[in-house]
Amino acid sequence: MEAHFKFIEHGSAHWEKAVELREKILRIPLGARFTKEELAEEKDHFQLVGFINDELIATAVLVPEQRVLKMQRVVVKAAIRNLNIGSKMMAFCEVFARDKNYHSIYCHARDTAVDFYLKNSYKGEGDYFDEDGIPHLKMSKTL
Ligand SMILES: CC(C)(COP(=O)(O)OP(=O)(O)OC[C@H]1O[C@@H](n2cnc3c(N)ncnc32)[C@H](O)[C@@H]1OP(=O)(O)O)[C@@H](O)C(=O)NCCC(=O)NCCS
Repeated sequence: MEAHFKFIEHGSAHWEKAVELREKILRIPLGARFTKEELAEEKDHFQLVGFINDELIATAVLVPEQRVLKMQRVVVKAAIRNLNIGSKMMAFCEVFARDKNYHSIYCHARDTAVDFYLKNSYKGEGDYFDEDGIPHLKMSKTL
């Protein structure tokens, strides 16, 4: 069961499936959806997905900010967590970022995901803050 990762086009059928997966995991439990404006803004972002065979099982979005990438909307399908798929996706992002000469990646990690980022050598910065009613920590990794 090997996951493979690739970048996809904003607005493509795979992007729509990725939005569906991350909406189900990150937004619907909070009683929210991605807004049209949020999804439209993503046209300038790098859209990453993971597949096992033909099934889309993971996704993340990388937002370019000068020489730094913000990683957001990171999810792995619930039934196949803790199998290192998320960490492989982090490694894929890092190879991409180094190739493009970004010097670091950062994210706003939900408190429940902080250990996952620590395991992937991200470091916490500052204090927890509220985002969407959930405590978050800024975490970053210099490449
Ligand atoms: C966070 C997430 C992407 C990790 O994906 P994954 O494929 O399970 O990650 P991995 O298997 O590579 O690593 C899991 C490790 O992180 C740790 N971990 C910490 N917090 C975790 C969490 N909320 N969920 C899963 N694992 C977590 C596990 O203990 C595990 O460590 P171990 O391998 O030493 O036992 C996935 O759990 C997920 O989609 N969570 C819900 C969405 C979410 O919170 N996204 C991040 C928003 S900031």
